[in-house]
Parts: sequence; C-alpha cells; structure tokens
Amino acid sequence: MDMSMEDDGGSSSANLEHRAAHRAFRERWKETDDSMCRHSMSFHLHHRLRSDFFASYLYLVEKIPLVQLFPLTCEFISGEKQFYHQAQRFYRDVPASEEGMMGDFLEISNTDLEGSRQFLKRFVGPGKAGTHRALDCGSGIGRVTKGVLLPVFEKMEMADMMEHFLLHAHEEYLGEDADRIETYYCFNLQEFKPPKNKYDVIWMQWVACHLTDKDLMTFLCHCKKSLRPNGVLIMKDNMARQGCKLDPLDSSISRHLDIMRSIISRAGLEVLEAQRQEGFPDVVMPVWMIAMK
Ligand SMILES: C[S@@+](CC[C@H](N)C(=O)[O-])C[C@H]1O[C@@H](n2cnc3c(N)ncnc32)[C@H](O)[C@@H]1O
Repeated sequence: MDMSMEDDGGSSSANLEHRAAHRAFRERWKETDDSMCRHSMSFHLHHRLRSDFFASYLYLVEKIPLVQLFPLTCEFISGEKQFYHQAQRFYRDVPASEEGMMGDFLEISNTDLEGSRQFLKRFVGPGKAGTHRALDCGSGIGRVTKGVLLPVFEKMEMADMMEHFLLHAHEEYLGEDADRIETYYCFNLQEFKPPKNKYDVIWMQWVACHLTDKDLMTFLCHCKKSLRPNGVLIMKDNMARQGCKLDPLDSSISRHLDIMRSIISRAGLEVLEAQRQEGFPDVVMPVWMIAMK
C-alpha cells in the first residue's frame, strides 16, 4: 500500500487520492467511523493511521517465532528482544561467585575444569595454536579464565555482559593474575565484534546457549576473523538430547549437537574435534566441547 500522500490543501486530484486511501483503510481497519471520515483528508489522521499500522506491524513481527526468521532451531523463541531482556534480568540477580556461575551444580566445577584443560592441550603448542593471548567469552567472574586459560596463556581478555562479574574478577577473584588481563569487555556478545587477528584461542563456555541462532552464527563469524594463524575457537555448552530446548528462566537454548554443527558450518568454521565431557551426573544435560577453526 502506498502511504506517501501529502496534504496539499485540498486540490481535487488529492481529494480523490485521499478518498481512495480512506476507502482502503476503511476496508482494513473497521474502527474508522463517519467523523473520522470527515477528517480523513487531514495530514494528521493520515499520520495516525500510518503509525498505528506500523505499530501493529512491529507487534506482529515480535510475535513471529524465531524459527520462522532463521529456521534452524526447532523450539521457538517468542521474540529476540524478550529473549535477551530476560537473560539480563536473570543474571542481574546472580551472585558474582563460583556458585553463581555454576547454578545448582557447583560440585561438577572441578571435573569440568579438568576436562577443559585436557581438551585444550590438544590444540596448543608447537605447530598448533600459540600461547600468547586468549579471549574468554561469556566469562562471568573468570572461573574458566582462572582454572583453564591463565595457566596456559601469557595474556587474557574477558568479555561478559554483566559488569558486576567483571568487577569481581578484577578486584578479587583473579587475585594477582588480574594483572595479566589486558582488557575486560563489558558487552552483549550479540553486539560485540572482537578485534581482528588477535587471539590464539577463543573460549566460549555456557554462553552460546544465550544467543539466538542468527546472533550465534554472526558472532562465530566475527570470532573466526579474530583468530591468529593456527588459532582455535573452543565452545563448551549443553547440547539437547533431541531438537532444541528453551529454558525461559535464564533465556538459554540448548541445541542438539547436529543443530550446533549446522550453525558452525554456516558461520564458515570447520569442526576440528567434538568431545563429550565425561564424569557429569546423568541429571546434567550432555555437555560437549567443540574445537573449530
Ligand atoms: C552460566 S554463566 C558461565 C560463565 C563462565 N563461562 C563459566 O563457565 O564459569 C553464563 C555467563 O554468560 C553471560 N552472558 C549471558 N548472555 C550473554 C550475552 N548475550 N552476552 C554476553 N554475556 C552473556 C552471563 O553474564 C554469565 O556470566
């Protein structure tokens, strides 16, 4: 529908045009009435109708399940804005502690860190990724930075959307090793473009699940450009046993490994190795480590 009419003071051709437009609106918008009819030529009303039209259009777009916007996940997310907003609300109240990072599963933290250290070993060293600098994405307070990455890399950078986590990392949790953190990026990953050609390893743990398919794919593309030669990106996350599973409480979506592989390949990355974390109790969703370049 062409809505680009102007108020030219009532010339006859404009009259006709407005009347036709009004009829068109009337057919679509039953609320219009005779008094509105009389004023339907006014620029003001035209404007009003136009903004109402767009308001309802935007409302409808918000209602479209993500699966229709980017058809990889099987489960729906009823609007990206709400998805991220809810995660912000959730983490605002999470304490800056290891307990906070692990939810109800603090007891598996050591097993998790040990599994990560063993996995990482395979990709760094002579002829493989260097050990100069790594980036921890969705780092939280730096549980992985401290337990896995700082013992290997000379320098580190951390990225997380929550300022109170990063502050706690710097002021307390990392102790003297905080001196080796070059930069703390307080960013939403869906808006973050890490610097190009900078990192030997990029680690992202339990945060891919907080990005929509579309944003995850875009972020992985940025990460690829951000790796140095021989650099490796390692993702560690919950993988659904079937399809995709949305947790509305913290706004996270767990995907089946095949779905994750599909997103990774769409981002132009190649999977070097995928390995399931062992030693977690059965109640915990399967956790996989995926190395890619
Ligand atoms: C479950 S915690 C994991 C923290 C850390 N990776 C670990 O394994 O200990 C998830 C972290 O992701 C961060 N996060 C969630 N959504 C994010 C987003 N869209 N952008 C940046 N950080 C996000 C949260 O603030 C939180 O620190």
